[in-house]
Amino acid sequence: MTQRVLTGITTTGTPHLGNYVGAIRPAIAASREPGVESFFFLADYHALIKCDEPARIERSRLEIAATWLAAGLDPSRVTFYRQSDIVEIPELTWLLTCVASKGLMNRAHAYKAAVDANLAAGEDVDAGVTMGLFCYPVLMAADILMFNAHRVPVGRDQVQHIEMARDLAQRFNHLFGAGRELFVLPEANVDERVAMLPGLDGRKMSKSYDNTVPLFEGGAKGLRDALARVVTDSRAPGEAKNPDGSHLVSIYEAFASDSEREVFRAALRGGMAWGDAKTQVVERIERDIGPLRERYEELIAHPERIEASLLEGARKARAVTAPFLAELRAAVGLRPMVAVTAPAAAPTRAKLALPTFKQYREADGKFYFKLAAADGRVLLQSAAFESGRDAGQWVAKLKTDGAAAVPDAPVAHGEGVSAQDVADALAALGGYAG
Ligand code: TRP
Repeated sequence: MTQRVLTGITTTGTPHLGNYVGAIRPAIAASREPGVESFFFLADYHALIKCDEPARIERSRLEIAATWLAAGLDPSRVTFYRQSDIVEIPELTWLLTCVASKGLMNRAHAYKAAVDANLAAGEDVDAGVTMGLFCYPVLMAADILMFNAHRVPVGRDQVQHIEMARDLAQRFNHLFGAGRELFVLPEANVDERVAMLPGLDGRKMSKSYDNTVPLFEGGAKGLRDALARVVTDSRAPGEAKNPDGSHLVSIYEAFASDSEREVFRAALRGGMAWGDAKTQVVERIERDIGPLRERYEELIAHPERIEASLLEGARKARAVTAPFLAELRAAVGLRPMVAVTAPAAAPTRAKLALPTFKQYREADGKFYFKLAAADGRVLLQSAAFESGRDAGQWVAKLKTDGAAAVPDAPVAHGEGVSAQDVADALAALGGYAG
């Protein structure tokens, strides 16, 4: 079966060497593997959450699209599009919003970080927080689920979002699938082998650290000037240098073959000057990206070619999304008014019901609780507590911390109940271990 791989880049900045090595180059390489169907897109709706400067959004969309194309993405092999061209995505976002528990969204890292910063500054918890930021994970889930992607290559910081997409998919399947899996449960792909490119100061190359090397902007001179600022130690020309732990060496190795690496390391051990080493690094990188830069500049000079390619991508994407959204609309009850079936005598409430916690007191005078599935099956049974308050505190902890709280809780699993059953039930209640 073909694997669907999908990833997006938020269009708020100019691509740097770290984006190329960490995201664009591996994604394009993966798209050439057999049995893989790739979807790459410009996350321009996500960009609106972080940026209210129209000119910057416009410029970034152009630069990021030109970068993908110049880097060798073949739009006839992959589906390459703008998120904002796919009208089904905001519609699916709404369907998912209606099953997303607010408690789950409260735990999203980006929102939590904003709240923590507000608290630290003595501000109102939600100062400066838009509903866009709060619902960021739901829009991202729609991006992924709309195409039933199996794998989502992302950086570590995005893994929680993919887990939330899985939760929403599971919830939606359970409520509306009528036994079918409407959505594939996506998995995050964090490739540990992909070099984490250090920036000028040795920390991860990132716009937020202001330590980046531009990929194409500024031409070969821009590359040379930026790399001249990579921090090295103060060993003089002729002195032996240790290649291990040198950021310059790591940058070189993100482009070099095994034999080139050996030669470079040996030269440093033999006393090559840092200045000469930097010249070699510039030349090695330029050999790879010089030809791409020419294509990039050609594309930037012809935005209408990029536009045509993206519109063609949107057409291909919508051939997938339009029929699928029609199916999803029907699943939730938004159907044409023909042959309307009367609701079954038994209300469908049972299916919609969530798992529940029940607290009670036994004849022994002790307090207990249990977690029951919607169909009444006992998932967790507590030990006896001396006070109702103690029992209540464990219930609250399980609700907020989800599956993470189970190992320490004084509870036993019900007959034939797996840890995953319990984790799913707690996630549906809003508990989230992430
Ligand atoms: N949130 C991602 C980022 O900032 C970008 C993104 C949006 C994305 N939608 C996506 C990535 C869907 C993968 C899949 O990096």
